[in-house]
Amino acid sequence: MHAMSYGYFDDDAREYVITTPHTPYPWINYLGTEEFFGLISHTGGGYTFYRDALMRRLTRFRYNNVPTDSGGRCYYINDGGDVWSPTWAPAQTDLDHFEARHGLSYTSIAGERNGVRCEVLFLVPLGTTAEVHRVRLTNTADEDRSFQLFSLAEFCLWNAADDATNFQRNLSLGEVEVDAGTIYHTTEYRERRNHYAVYGVNSEIDGFDTDRESFVGLRNEWSAPQAVVEGRSRNSIASGWAPIGSHQIRIDLTAGEQRDVVFVLGYVENDVDDKWESPGVVNKTKARALLDRFATSQDVDDAMRGLRDYWSDLLGTVSISTGDPRVDRMINTWNPYQCMVTFNMSRSASYFESGLGRGMGFRDSAQDLLGIVHLIPERARERILDVAATQLPDGSAYHQYQPLTKRGNDSVGSGFNDDPLWLIEGTAAYVMETGDLTILDEAVPFDNNEQDTGSLFEHLTRSFHHVLNNRGPHGLPLIGRADWNDCLNLNAFSTEPGESFQTMETQDGRTAESVFIAGLFVHAGELYADLAAALGLDGVAGSARDHTAAMAETVLEHGWDGDWFLRAYDHFGDKVGSSECIEGQIFIEPQGICVMAGIGTETDHANRALDSVKQRLDSDHGILLHQPAFTEFHVELGEITTYPPGYKENGSVFCHTNPWVMIAATRLGRAEEAYAYWKKIAPAFREEISELHRTEPYVYAQTIAGRDAPRHGEAKNSWLSGTAAWNWVAITQHIIGVRTEIGGLRIEPCLPAELDDVQFNRRCRGAEYRIAITNRATGSPAQLTINGIHHEGTLIPYAAAGDVVKITVET
Ligand code: GLC
Ligand code: GLC
Repeated sequence: MHAMSYGYFDDDAREYVITTPHTPYPWINYLGTEEFFGLISHTGGGYTFYRDALMRRLTRFRYNNVPTDSGGRCYYINDGGDVWSPTWAPAQTDLDHFEARHGLSYTSIAGERNGVRCEVLFLVPLGTTAEVHRVRLTNTADEDRSFQLFSLAEFCLWNAADDATNFQRNLSLGEVEVDAGTIYHTTEYRERRNHYAVYGVNSEIDGFDTDRESFVGLRNEWSAPQAVVEGRSRNSIASGWAPIGSHQIRIDLTAGEQRDVVFVLGYVENDVDDKWESPGVVNKTKARALLDRFATSQDVDDAMRGLRDYWSDLLGTVSISTGDPRVDRMINTWNPYQCMVTFNMSRSASYFESGLGRGMGFRDSAQDLLGIVHLIPERARERILDVAATQLPDGSAYHQYQPLTKRGNDSVGSGFNDDPLWLIEGTAAYVMETGDLTILDEAVPFDNNEQDTGSLFEHLTRSFHHVLNNRGPHGLPLIGRADWNDCLNLNAFSTEPGESFQTMETQDGRTAESVFIAGLFVHAGELYADLAAALGLDGVAGSARDHTAAMAETVLEHGWDGDWFLRAYDHFGDKVGSSECIEGQIFIEPQGICVMAGIGTETDHANRALDSVKQRLDSDHGILLHQPAFTEFHVELGEITTYPPGYKENGSVFCHTNPWVMIAATRLGRAEEAYAYWKKIAPAFREEISELHRTEPYVYAQTIAGRDAPRHGEAKNSWLSGTAAWNWVAITQHIIGVRTEIGGLRIEPCLPAELDDVQFNRRCRGAEYRIAITNRATGSPAQLTINGIHHEGTLIPYAAAGDVVKITVET
């Protein structure tokens, strides 16, 4: 099957259009921009939550379900006994026409059958704690039509983990209220909750249901609920069991007539002493106000306009035109969009992350900043301070913290010795983007303890010194529990089935060392020195540079294998990632990070490392994590060897790491190679192999199965991954080559011959830079003009806010 049978990019609308329900996997989108979010697949599957996917889940979702994509909220039509869903699922009745459009924070799905067209627009309007669903019904036949429309939302009892397990309690808890066609889900509101869910519609209704079994029937499936099949709601009031919300509306349409019905599924919070309208009756004032805001279709149009303006303004920060639509759509729309979603969700809620478990990762959150500092600098600033406040006094870090409490969480592990360095990377990106040095003076607690605070700069200092203070026999950084590769657990020695490598007690680990952390230390250490210098702390900067130079020497002395950088030394002092090994001879991470950091670029080490990557790790679907993949479990290496060869941390194309090699390649002027690596993993380029790739062709996935796996080329874990931010950095800042530095905007394109004429516009610190690049791929230093005047070098001083600067670049 060819890609075109699944869909296409509509670049003007900034939408991906899916033309069949039968994609190789559910292709999802996210609704919401700040507090209230929904996940929605192209057939309407997914769920919705307020702020925290674990603690405030409005609608239910069944993991590992068959079919895989269900749940949440959906619509049915019963047209004279013929039952179908405009979103195809859950009814799964064939449609005469189907089209799903995933746009920026909205999705619209249209189905048509027997002369009735039904298009449902799903969005979370700005500043709104609700999903709005506009159901647009059109009679496309030339006779009058009359049919029944049914809505459905299955409520989750708030805590999604408890909801999925604690049946002995939960099946007796469910409570609802129905008031003039509006359904209120009020479970636990009588006791300690002060929030409820509301599901209303801007129309008279002809019936409703709030009890799942009354609506569906005990033995029916979601594809054919009894009430829908019989065309008759039961007007049921849930009492325990499973509360739902369903409305029945009779629709009469003359030939060609169109009617809009607007549903609102929202979250309402009341003050604790203002919970009740009268004894036992929920205070509905805020819910009514919410429904009033979307009383008409015009209100929905206005909300859509607000959403579009929000995104055009944000994405206007960077825009490109290269002549290759695949490049342009990644940079103009989909990559920044994914960066924003990843920033909002962290690693919590996707079709691969259950929303039940993982909090905010220390290193993940710090890296996510790289993709959004230019879009939402104020929120980046807040995130940096939140993350820093979970750092421990000795400079180490909890691996994760909980979004609602913002406190570090030891139950998900600690001792990942790379973690602290990412705080430097994220902070530096923010400062370079904004010029805001004041953030470095902010007082920030350690371990959220207000009695023990230090400036943010002090936090960065402790990050830096944590590495220096924890070095092993070769002078390289100790790895601790693991480094960026969470699964390289050199101190775990786990033999217990099911034991967590992330949290189990490990050896004290004074031997196992990481060359990756050494490379990251040099890279982050240079940024730390730049920040110190910007604060006028020349002594600190100088000494930091001495340390990074010494670490670079140590890497060349003890971290070089002959043709590439070693990965690590294990607990016994044996090499990991060496030609002496039988499996796992070469790893991508140190090749990328060490060259990015400039280690071995003065000698031929760096070029040789990248030659080795090309020879040994490159594949048709991206650069593999390591080769050969491990075929057996190695107790001394840990979780990395638990995965079958070619999957996840055991030798997949772990897309997060590929941009490091791209950046490294640009550092050495290897332009064609850098770009070729990018094209192998960039979703818009993989669209034509969607059947193999399986996940969405508009966003990056965390992994693509490696050469050692039977399903080489198949992606998993789409959406929430550091891949989004790092590819943004690689393509825009190093291949297109426009990046912020403390002293100005650096313009150093490293472009392949096929991108010969690039227009790149960048807003930064209030000014606008219009950069026209003519690329003859000469490999010689770029020649710049500013506003028509020759400019020496490649660093452009920042212009005053409001200025428009015209720049030409010839390479
Ligand atoms: C996951 C984690 C990330 C880690 C990577 C490699 O993406 O979220 O923190 O670096 O796996 O193990
Ligand atoms: C598992 C995953 C890995 C992730 C880690 C942390 O080990 O395979 O990708 O980084 O969990 O949650």
